[in-house]
Amino acid sequence: MNDTIQDIRDQAYLTESEVLKLNFINDSSRYIFRKYYRSGLRSHILEILLAEDVIKETQGEITEGIRMFPRAKPKKMLRILRTRFKNKEAVFQEIKKYQLLLKFLGPDFIAESEEFIVDYTGTGKSQIVLCGLQEYIEGEILDPWGLGGKNFLLDLFKSSTCPDSQLAARVEKARKNIAIFVKKIRQMISDTGYIPDLAGFGNLILTIDGNLKLVDINNIVEIKLNNSIPIDDKRYPSCDVSVEVLSLLEKDILQKNIQMDDPLYRVFLSRERKIKVKALEKQFYKSL
Ligand SMILES: Nc1ncnc2c1ncn2[C@@H]1O[C@H](COP(=O)(O)OP(=O)(O)OP(=O)(O)O)[C@@H](O)[C@H]1O
Ligand SMILES: [Mg+2]
Repeated sequence: MNDTIQDIRDQAYLTESEVLKLNFINDSSRYIFRKYYRSGLRSHILEILLAEDVIKETQGEITEGIRMFPRAKPKKMLRILRTRFKNKEAVFQEIKKYQLLLKFLGPDFIAESEEFIVDYTGTGKSQIVLCGLQEYIEGEILDPWGLGGKNFLLDLFKSSTCPDSQLAARVEKARKNIAIFVKKIRQMISDTGYIPDLAGFGNLILTIDGNLKLVDINNIVEIKLNNSIPIDDKRYPSCDVSVEVLSLLEKDILQKNIQMDDPLYRVFLSRERKIKVKALEKQFYKSL
């Protein structure tokens, strides 16, 4: 019989009852924890819903004589990081990265999070786990590799619930916000030498009212202007791909000419380097 209890950070996902049993969760029955339908590799992402909203979603409510099933929208997102920290200092270091991101991008461009440390005792011993209570961002994933066509933003908003009369204004707002976002990232790079991870699918979300939000806020990577290609803890060249994403936002959405005399792009977007990065990406996807 296998009597070792699996650490939650190794589990593929957590069920509602598993979440409620966690020693750091207070089961108040007012809230429902539900696995979010999108996920990443580094955290468990759970929706925190009002129990009454979930009842309306499943049993429906009568509105003007018709039974409707309104989707329960998360009040917050709970993020439980899978990272193993050696000690408290290492966790504080991680939280500092989030604060750096908040300082440079500001609350308008990231999904704000209250980062907190818990003493997880589920495996029988005390362990430090980093969690975040994050604002829920509703919107479309901005996929940097799907920005095809000059009218990308217009097409995106057309296919949403945006009324026709507001389309042009919405597109303009989104474009302006993306321009500010790019500027802020560039400022962060030049002042700190770090870039947030823009590479992961779903890290950037465009909201229906034209705001751009970085939701994956626990990942920032150091930029080194030399010929070695850094790979992250998952063996992914996230630094190079993040710089490439920045260039795609400038080129495809802002319709700017990418200047190859720009020191950042000269190093990161050289032909030889991009070939090596593609090979590393391939290896990463093979290993999944
Ligand atoms: N606050 C949020 N609001 C809406 N969607 C979110 C939020 N946080 C995360 N998501 C979505 O959940 C998915 C996983 O998020 P994220 O990329 O942050 O996961 P991760 O496991 O921490 O990181 P990694 O990308 O490194 O594997 C993404 O598709 C993202 O869009
Ligand atoms: Mg991600």
